[in-house]
Amino acid sequence: MCGIIGYVGHQEVVPVVLEGLRRLEYRGYDSAGIAVVGPEGIDVRRSAGKLANLEAVLRERPLAGAYGIGHTRWATHGRPTEENAHPHRDQSGRVVLVHNGIIENYLELKRELQARGITFRTETDTEVVAHLVGLELAEDGLHAAVTRALQRLRGLFALVVVSSADPGTIVAVRNGPPVVVGLGEGEYFVASDIPAILAHTRDVVFLEDGQVAVLRADGVQFFDAAGQSIRRDAQRITWDPVMAEKAGYKHFMLKEIFEQPWAIKETLVGRLSMEHGDVHLPEINIDSTTLAGLSRVVLLACGTSWHAALVGKFLIEQLARVPVEVDYGSEYRYRQPIVSAADLVVVITQSGETADTLAALREARRHGARSIAICNVIGSMATREAEGTVQTHAGPEIGVASTKAFTTQLVALVLLALRIARARGAMTPDQVRPVLQALTELPRHVEQVLSCAPYIEDIARRFYQCSDFLFLGRGMHYPIALEGALKLKEVSYIHAEGYPAGEMKHGPIALIDEHLPVVTLAPRDHVFEKMLGNVQEVKARGGSVIAITEEGEPHLWSLLDPQRDARLVLPPVHPLMSPITMTVPLQLLAYHVAVRRGCDVDQPRNLAKSVTVE
Ligand code: F6R
Repeated sequence: MCGIIGYVGHQEVVPVVLEGLRRLEYRGYDSAGIAVVGPEGIDVRRSAGKLANLEAVLRERPLAGAYGIGHTRWATHGRPTEENAHPHRDQSGRVVLVHNGIIENYLELKRELQARGITFRTETDTEVVAHLVGLELAEDGLHAAVTRALQRLRGLFALVVVSSADPGTIVAVRNGPPVVVGLGEGEYFVASDIPAILAHTRDVVFLEDGQVAVLRADGVQFFDAAGQSIRRDAQRITWDPVMAEKAGYKHFMLKEIFEQPWAIKETLVGRLSMEHGDVHLPEINIDSTTLAGLSRVVLLACGTSWHAALVGKFLIEQLARVPVEVDYGSEYRYRQPIVSAADLVVVITQSGETADTLAALREARRHGARSIAICNVIGSMATREAEGTVQTHAGPEIGVASTKAFTTQLVALVLLALRIARARGAMTPDQVRPVLQALTELPRHVEQVLSCAPYIEDIARRFYQCSDFLFLGRGMHYPIALEGALKLKEVSYIHAEGYPAGEMKHGPIALIDEHLPVVTLAPRDHVFEKMLGNVQEVKARGGSVIAITEEGEPHLWSLLDPQRDARLVLPPVHPLMSPITMTVPLQLLAYHVAVRRGCDVDQPRNLAKSVTVE
């Protein structure tokens, strides 16, 4: 939800900022802008639409200078026009800033500032901050002015501010959305996310909420919200910069789908103990006695992560025999939930920034629940606010549609379910070992599924012109059907619905005709025969079936018509792993359909990678 960046140092600022914005564009791409400070003051270039439009503007009207800031926007307040594009200025033109997040009391502040004679040029909430800082600007410099202005702001926001009145200085603030400061040799960076600065430095400091960084070419200082100096030590990021590149793939989404065997392996490293028939998850920070005494687990998430939560309910109830409730963050936070200290709340969020999920976590904690975050971003809000974490080590996910973050969330949920099961005595070490073995084999099985990519591309070629799809699954594969439908919707803009297959005859069957492909997930499990029944019902009504099944089943093919239907056969896996292996072809189907339809798969319209506003 908006990407912000700042740079001060010895390099020419525009290429550094543009390259950083390119790597932040997944956060929003409604407009982009850059401000560079030179001897003549601050120059700004902005453009509606993607970064390419800003680059075109810069080719016509270039900018030069040694420090500056940039922004890529996902519109919240105000339409995605050039006027509303960041950076924004104060009335005097001496303060320019970029912002990620929401200023909740902006209307009240706007009225107050208008009464003081300030004319607003944009529809954004950000402009109030520029004016407030401008009015506070005095002899004591930009940092002091920002500190005073911050006292007036309510909401969740990250800011990067420059002023011609305090040359060479960039002030960055975190109060919610992430801000990472990069420490180079005689150059300093600030950004919303690591990939934006990884080509320049791996030494970073994640600002904590309420902290402020002041960057100059000769160093960076850190302060608390009251303006007191604080010490922050750098941490070293071990990611290879190439991980944030496309590495020869046409799109990030495709690269990230193919990275899944590696991402799963990374998520398992050091966590499986064959010897003890258990999993090693000390970072959850919740001891076995507490896990044994839980009366309920509540899984909270949004979007794709909510689909992982639905699978998690099956896993935890089946393995740990404890009741599980699943809710959307956006619903839970407002429904006065019944929470007790014997509840464990697990928030699932790849970004760790989703506003609704965080609000739900806070609501649960406020009522005394214990808490864990399953998260892919180290140092994100969710990991800091929950008592413990299960980090998914999927590496940076740049494609806006979640792929490897989802499958590693499923892996993390298997691990957590096993840990709770062992703590509660619901499984013996001997019962756990086969699941650990299946996890160990999972990366290889996912590799095998990926080797089917050409078949899936062919299925996409046959069906990409359809305007609606139905996805059906049962049990743990019902959430996977929902995920398959969401993925297709997001990247191809085709209308798609996921349903528990048993529900088909209670309504969606009315949709079936020769124009509606029905994707059926039919692993060889205890409800396989039921899925065959669904396939027959679809065929009897003239629908086409895209059946995804596992090796060794003899019946399905005989029901299908090779001219009208398609079948994909995956390697047989442990039943707890098949939601993961079955997800992969659905990701590839969505990808190839979208590419054939000419869609922008990495940055689908209207979406953003992390939704830091309600
Ligand atoms: C879909 C997708 C979204 C996210 C949702 C929650 O591909 O990525 O539905 O899953 O916005 O995001 P996180 O997991 O970051 O909380």
